[in-house]
Amino acid sequence: MKVLVLGANGMLGSEIVRSFRRFFEVIAFGSKEADITDQTSIQKMINEVKSEIVINAAAYTDVDGCEKNKDHAIKVNALGVKNVAEACKEAGSKIVHISTDYVFNGTSKKPYKEDDETNPINFYGESKLRGENYIKEVFENFLIIRSEWLYGAGGKNFINLVIEKAKNAGKLKVVNDQIGAPTYTKDLSEAILALLKKDCRGIYNAANKGHCSWFEVACKVVELLKLKVSVEPIPTAESNRIAKRPGYSVLDCNKLKRDTGFVFRPWNEALKDFLGLI
Ligand SMILES: NC(=O)c1ccc[n+]([C@@H]2O[C@H](COP(=O)([O-])OP(=O)(O)OC[C@H]3O[C@@H](n4cnc5c(N)ncnc54)[C@H](OP(=O)(O)O)[C@@H]3O)[C@@H](O)[C@H]2O)c1
Repeated sequence: MKVLVLGANGMLGSEIVRSFRRFFEVIAFGSKEADITDQTSIQKMINEVKSEIVINAAAYTDVDGCEKNKDHAIKVNALGVKNVAEACKEAGSKIVHISTDYVFNGTSKKPYKEDDETNPINFYGESKLRGENYIKEVFENFLIIRSEWLYGAGGKNFINLVIEKAKNAGKLKVVNDQIGAPTYTKDLSEAILALLKKDCRGIYNAANKGHCSWFEVACKVVELLKLKVSVEPIPTAESNRIAKRPGYSVLDCNKLKRDTGFVFRPWNEALKDFLGLI
């Protein structure tokens, strides 16, 4: 089977390319070869490749940047996704699209299910939700996978930031009132494979098991790597970020388990793996 990956140079896209090459013929395009905002060329390209599956891992992922550059956020995360969906419909390809926990407002007290009400509190989440909605309007042959707090090889992410900062500072201040599940791109790629093997359609949550605050993640990284840095908890109000962040971002992955049998590892096990400790 042939799989086309868009956004193939990103943190998740590059991991999907690596993992999927074990099973499929993978065609991988970064933003230079395939700009999803260019409707004509993306349509032509998807039609020429005619793969059974198109994975869209392309997105404008700078959460604070989205607040300042709303037009660009819409262009990539909403209209770009619509371009890909329409091209997939024409080419007879299934679209697999990656979305986010940020479509929820984070006020829940229990893990979010796929059909819980969406209500983003920042523009990144808003633009991603519009992208999801466009796909649903275009056709039914879609798989939307909502994940959260991603980290992995070759990406700008929180784990690498902690390691980098620990080298240069004696003290780290990290928010302790945002709760979620750090998710390893390698594990997420396996979950996507499981969904494809069962030919699942619709929306699925996919994240490593358990939950914690960013502060706890930082402490775990420092403990595991025996870094010489102290970590201080702070409230979000003190973090000086432009975009609001949801306070509670845990995703219920029971639908994924029910339909594929796939169960994620606990987040701290996956983290040890990423850090090369198992
Ligand atoms: N990171 C997270 O914590 C997180 C959490 C939940 C969901 N997600 C979702 O997971 C997906 C992958 O995220 P990631 O963390 O791997 O992001 P990433 O590392 O920022 O990768 C995104 C990729 O999209 C490409 N891109 C941007 N604009 C494009 C365009 N117009 N056409 C084609 N490609 C374009 C970028 O290429 P250039 O660098 O060349 O611009 C980049 O390689 C995204 O849909 C994101 O919303 C991420």
